[in-house]
Amino acid sequence: MHGAHGYLLSQFLSTVYNRREDRWGASLENRARLIREVTRAVKAAAPSLVLAVRMSPEDYGQTRGVDLDESLQLARWLVEDGAEVLHLSLWRSATNTTKRPESHATPLFREAVGPSVKLVVAGAIWTHAEAEAQLSLGADVVALGRSAIANHDWPSKADEPSLHRAPVAPATLLDEGLSPGFVEYLRAFRGFVG
Ligand SMILES: Cc1cc2nc3c(=O)[nH]c(=O)nc-3n(C[C@H](O)[C@H](O)[C@H](O)COP(=O)(O)O)c2cc1C
Repeated sequence: MHGAHGYLLSQFLSTVYNRREDRWGASLENRARLIREVTRAVKAAAPSLVLAVRMSPEDYGQTRGVDLDESLQLARWLVEDGAEVLHLSLWRSATNTTKRPESHATPLFREAVGPSVKLVVAGAIWTHAEAEAQLSLGADVVALGRSAIANHDWPSKADEPSLHRAPVAPATLLDEGLSPGFVEYLRAFRGFVG
């Protein structure tokens, strides 16, 4: 389930986008009602599937009006509601949280939800060492976006100097098997195509 990045469920959670004053807005309980009801409904409809929810712990990019402490409370609720995996979209996983610069998001979520919930972390993980650093912070899984797009064989070269890192030349991306149209689309991700 996608509860991050300014999509619908995230819009309901947001104090900026959600202007409702009924039972779907204002308090955190109300703003979280939609994602919680959807989580419970999905769990009831598909009890044998592993239920993962993607979250934006704090504002970044299109996510606005999301607070770290509210996200930690939401994580606890989602686990109560049946989520077994929480996928933290951090965008800059090497950086600590904005609200608490002394703390990284992963240990905060681990403390909130306990050891049995699996945590996935995404956000500018390029090298094997960067992936391991996230696992050391308590992530169970790392998710790769741009590094896997730029390196179709990432697992076999994540330790190598030949790993392509941003900014990646258009010719390199074409060599990696991307279409010209996709390379153009990727220019929207600042600093990726160079
Ligand atoms: C080409 C591209 C398309 C993406 N599309 C989506 C999307 O549709 N929905 C979404 O939530 N995130 C999307 N993302 C964000 C990624 O899921 C990921 O969270 C983000 O890129 C950070 O990981 P990375 O630094 O490894 O790329 C996209 C990222 C890229 C590079």
